[in-house]
Amino acid sequence: MADHMRLLGFLMHTPINHLSLSWADEEDRRLSELSSFKPWQSLARKLEEYCFDGLFFADVPAPYDFYHDRTDEAVKYGVCWPSHDPVALLGAMASVTDHLGYAVTLSVAGIPPFLAVRTLSTLDYLSQGRIGWNIVTGNGRAEHRALGTEPLEHDARYDRADEYLRICYALWDGIGEKAIIADRNNGIYADPARVEKIDFEGKYLRCRATPSVLPSAQRRPVLFQAGSSGRGQAFAAKHSDVIFGIQSTIPAMKDFQASVKAASIAEGRNKPCQVLYAIQPYLGGTEEEAKRRREELLRRIPIDAALCRLSGTLGIDFGQMDLDLPLEELPTQASRGMMAAVSKIASEKRWTIREAIVATGTLGSIPSIVGTPQQVADQLETMWRESGCRGFNITPPISPKGLIDFAEQVVPLLQNRGVFRQEYSGRTFSENLLQ
Ligand SMILES: Cc1cc2nc3c(=O)[nH]c(=O)nc-3n(C[C@H](O)[C@H](O)[C@H](O)COP(=O)(O)O)c2cc1C
Repeated sequence: MADHMRLLGFLMHTPINHLSLSWADEEDRRLSELSSFKPWQSLARKLEEYCFDGLFFADVPAPYDFYHDRTDEAVKYGVCWPSHDPVALLGAMASVTDHLGYAVTLSVAGIPPFLAVRTLSTLDYLSQGRIGWNIVTGNGRAEHRALGTEPLEHDARYDRADEYLRICYALWDGIGEKAIIADRNNGIYADPARVEKIDFEGKYLRCRATPSVLPSAQRRPVLFQAGSSGRGQAFAAKHSDVIFGIQSTIPAMKDFQASVKAASIAEGRNKPCQVLYAIQPYLGGTEEEAKRRREELLRRIPIDAALCRLSGTLGIDFGQMDLDLPLEELPTQASRGMMAAVSKIASEKRWTIREAIVATGTLGSIPSIVGTPQQVADQLETMWRESGCRGFNITPPISPKGLIDFAEQVVPLLQNRGVFRQEYSGRTFSENLLQ
């Protein structure tokens, strides 16, 4: 099969993904799923049945607090609150599947590299190489308030993350091929000469350690990164296998990929980072039905809930701003890449802040694909072919139904067209997603 589209299912271990108040819809089962492994396991099996590459878990560890400098709206409307640890789900899901990969967001702000590697690599080892790590640098102010740490400025966060990754590589590479002997007769487990001692001293971080987790089938987790500013892309080009992006149109996707490619070349890579885009599908028996459903879900969202989300993501307090002014690019220490993407679409559409919120109810720039399964498959294929991206991270408006419907109704159409795999060819997440 020629190169094919890659697909991930996007989830959060919270009441919603990108659509605020989705938990209140009668078809949504997210609230009840927070308290049990079983529904997550059954969703994982379903996505494996339809040959998805994996599931991707975003994470907002501490509730959004930029809007009016408080967390009340996040708590009141369940905007990514409560926020349970997604890492806790991975072992349960991986244990009932054989091929599906699991990418998880873990911020480098709150956990030392030694422990991050220990947790992720233990999961990667146990799942025979099916774990990915979305490296985020901790742009949420609430996260630092909760941890009692001082937030660094935007670019310094990436400098610290560079050091963080150098420690991770040393830990991942520190146990040599023939280090483990397991010689029962002589009682020798391993050869210390083949296990490196790490002694790292940087500007931000220190680590003196002997690596403590055995290398997995893919040696290290697949590395994802979602920062999309210039500095974020340089970091991604240096370290990551995949950039997870949000761009709202095909031309914007092409521009984004051109700059990722340039950053990858500047970094001396012969293969640029792969790019996956977030897509929100709304399916219906007819186009009108799908549109109606989208409108119905958006109408439910109180403006305060949407503003809380947008303020938190962009690091701007929209509570202090006139909502009838145009949504322009503003300086931020949080997500500059997201700010650029949201303000670009707002300027193209001439949206005020209020109109942007009302129009989307979400992050402003995740494209919705709305229509019958056939129409959704058509649009996705066009987006994939014309942008040249690797694939998509499907964020369902309601869950798990949105992902199950997409798998059952859209994936077979993509398979029939030869655009998507009908069986797995690789063993590890890296082999399926990247090769
Ligand atoms: C598509 C996308 C998904 C992201 N997911 C998360 C996430 O789950 N958790 C998080 O803390 N930050 C997340 N971020 C924030 C980024 O990791 C990054 O810290 C932020 O965008 C700032 O980087 P930038 O200025 O280089 O864009 C996401 C950003 C994007 C664009």
